[in-house]
Amino acid sequence: MKYDVLTIFPEFFESPLKQGIIRRAIENGLLEVEIHNIRDYAHDRHKTTDDSPYGGGAGMLMKVEPTVEAIDAVRSGSDDKVILVTPQGVPLNQEIARELSGLKKLIVVCGRYEGVDERIRDFVDMEISIGDYVLMGGETPALVILESVTRLISGVLGSQKSIETESFSNGLLEYPQYTRPGNFRGLKVPSVLLSGNHKEIEKWRQQESQKRTLERRPELIGRQSKQKEL
Ligand code: ADE
Repeated sequence: MKYDVLTIFPEFFESPLKQGIIRRAIENGLLEVEIHNIRDYAHDRHKTTDDSPYGGGAGMLMKVEPTVEAIDAVRSGSDDKVILVTPQGVPLNQEIARELSGLKKLIVVCGRYEGVDERIRDFVDMEISIGDYVLMGGETPALVILESVTRLISGVLGSQKSIETESFSNGLLEYPQYTRPGNFRGLKVPSVLLSGNHKEIEKWRQQESQKRTLERRPELIGRQSKQKEL
C-alpha cells in the first residue's frame, strides 16, 4: 500500500515511521509512506497555509488552494482514496480499517488550526474522526489510521490467527488472557486454561468475550447481532 500524508508538520512523522511493525512493513516493501509538506504548495513567499475566516470569528482556517493543489499533485488515479481527518468525520473502527487495508493508495490530509476552508471537502472522498475529542491537528489521527490499517495488510503480521481472535475482529472484545506465573500474589489463572481441554477452553473464551463486551461495551453486542441479521 502507498500511504501519502499531506501536512504542514512533516517532521511529526519521522520517528513513528522508524519503529516496530510499520518500519518492518516499509522495509519489506508491503508499505510505502510519503510525507508531503502542504507549505510547498503555498502561493506566497511566506508560504502561508492558513487565513482568517470570512465573516469573522476566532481562529484561522487551512487555506483551500495549497491544500487542494497538494491533493492534485499526489493523486495518481481514480483508485486513490483521499481522506480528510477531522472530528466531523465518520468514527474510525475496525471495519473501516479493514476496508482501507485492501486499497492500493490512501492520501490523508491533516487538517490544522481551528478548521479547514469548507471547499476542501469537495476534493476528498471520505472524512474520518478518531474519536469524539478535539486534537490540535490531523497528524496524530493520520498515524492512528496508518497503524490500524498497516497491521491488517496481508503479510505484515506474522500470525493471521491472532488478528482473527483479537478485540473487534468478530465485533466483540477479546477474552481475558494470562501467561506465567500461574499464581501472582494470590491472583490465580482460571483453572480451565490449565486443563488442556481445548473444547472447554474455547467455550470459556467465548463466554468471557460475551461477558466482557456486555459489561464494557454493550452497544457492540447490538451491532454484532444486526450484522448477523443482514
Ligand atoms: N483533528 C482534530 N481532532 C480530530 C479527531 N478527533 N479526529 C480526527 N481528526 C482530528
